[in-house]
This record gives sequence, C-alpha cells and structure tokens, in this order.
Amino acid sequence: METAISSLPVLLLGAVKTLEITAIAVFIGCILGLAAGLARLSRKRILRFLATCYVDFFRGTPLLVQIVIVYFGIPQILKDIQNQLVQAYGITPVFENIPIFVAAVIACSLNSGAYIAEIFRAGVQSIEKGQMEAARSLGMTHGQAMRYVILPQAFKRVIPPLGNEFIAMLKDTSLLSVIGFEELFRRGQLIVGATYKAFQIYLTVAFIYLIMVISFSRLVDYLERRLKTGD
Ligand code: ARG
Repeated sequence: METAISSLPVLLLGAVKTLEITAIAVFIGCILGLAAGLARLSRKRILRFLATCYVDFFRGTPLLVQIVIVYFGIPQILKDIQNQLVQAYGITPVFENIPIFVAAVIACSLNSGAYIAEIFRAGVQSIEKGQMEAARSLGMTHGQAMRYVILPQAFKRVIPPLGNEFIAMLKDTSLLSVIGFEELFRRGQLIVGATYKAFQIYLTVAFIYLIMVISFSRLVDYLERRLKTGD
C-alpha cells in the first residue's frame, strides 16, 4: 500500500503523458481519418485505392510493430540515405534519430487515422440515400450536398464510435513502453524494476487507466444525449 501511494505522483505524471499522446493522436487521426474516409467514398479509383491501402495496412498490422518501424526502422533508412548524400556530395550529416515523442505521435496518429477513416466512412454511409437525392434535386453539387447536408448529420453519428476509438487508443498507448516512451505503463515498469512490488504497482497502474476510461466514457454518454435532444 505504501509503495503504491508513494509512487502515485510519478504514475500520475505518466498518466498525463498518456492522455496527452492519446489526445494528439486522436486529433491528428481525425484529420487523416476524414481525408481517408472521404477518399474511400470518392468516385476516383486511385483515391479509393490509396485510402484502402492506408486503412488496410494500419488496421491489418499490430500497432506494436508499427511503433518499432517508426522508431527504429524509418531512422535507419533516413540514415542510409544521408550516408549516401554525405559520400556523394560531402554534405555534413545532421540526422541522428527521431525524438521519441515525435515517433510516438506519428505511429499512434497514423494508426488512429486508419480506424477513424472507417468510422467516418460508416457515418457517411449511414445517412439515408434520400438526403443526398433531396440535396441534389435542390440544385446542390455533390460536394455541396456532402458539406452542408450529409456531413453535419454524419458528425453526430460518429461521436460514440469516436469516443470508443479514444478509449481504445488510451489503453493501446501502453504499447509505446517498448520504445521507452514514459507513459503510464512504462513508468509502472520502471518503479517495479526499482521496488520489486509488481502486484501493488501494476494494480495501481490498472486503476489509473480504469479511472481515465470510465470518466471519458461518461463524458461521451453525456455528449451523445445532448446531441440527441437537438434532433
Ligand atoms: N490492438 C490493436 C493492435 O495492436 C489495435 C491498436 C490500435 N487501436 C486503435 N483503436 N487505434 O493493432
């Protein structure tokens, strides 16, 4: 018990990092996801193809593997290219490695974007066909109908699944511990390494995740109810 209490400040700072990285990843993920989701519904085949490749890759491979590719794999390639430039043109090498925070943001955002793309696609497709037909018959272009009629309705429907994505990401950021990113779980590991109190510390870590997840899901429930009354 004492170990758990005395480690609380360090763990809570880790929880702040966890929340921070989740919020950034889901925010960037929303932008990527909106673009990829709409691209998947586009009439241009090449756009559909590219978006499908993106979504399939990031949903079809483990986030853990994506994280190590970004943090260990990409820098190696960049360094190889840099070495060739150094040899060919004698430029001074500048690149060392990707800062851990940046790698974490890149991996989690790309991953989240792929999941969010499917959320947006499903949200748009869930709007009754008649809405588009009605908008078009009023003289709107496809783009205008999308922008002013379909998307505003779709946004309401994607709130609950977006909330779920936030919660899933919040828990999955614990995978960032493999590259040494000091979020909540990694901090727990470090404390266990120093104190050997695995049970107390990991249970405390679990409870901190639980409190964050429950508070957030209550918030989403509330938002969902408020948006409903606007219908
Ligand atoms: N657990 C799955 C994986 O390891 C999903 C990770 C990402 N989850 C998410 N909601 N973006 O690949």
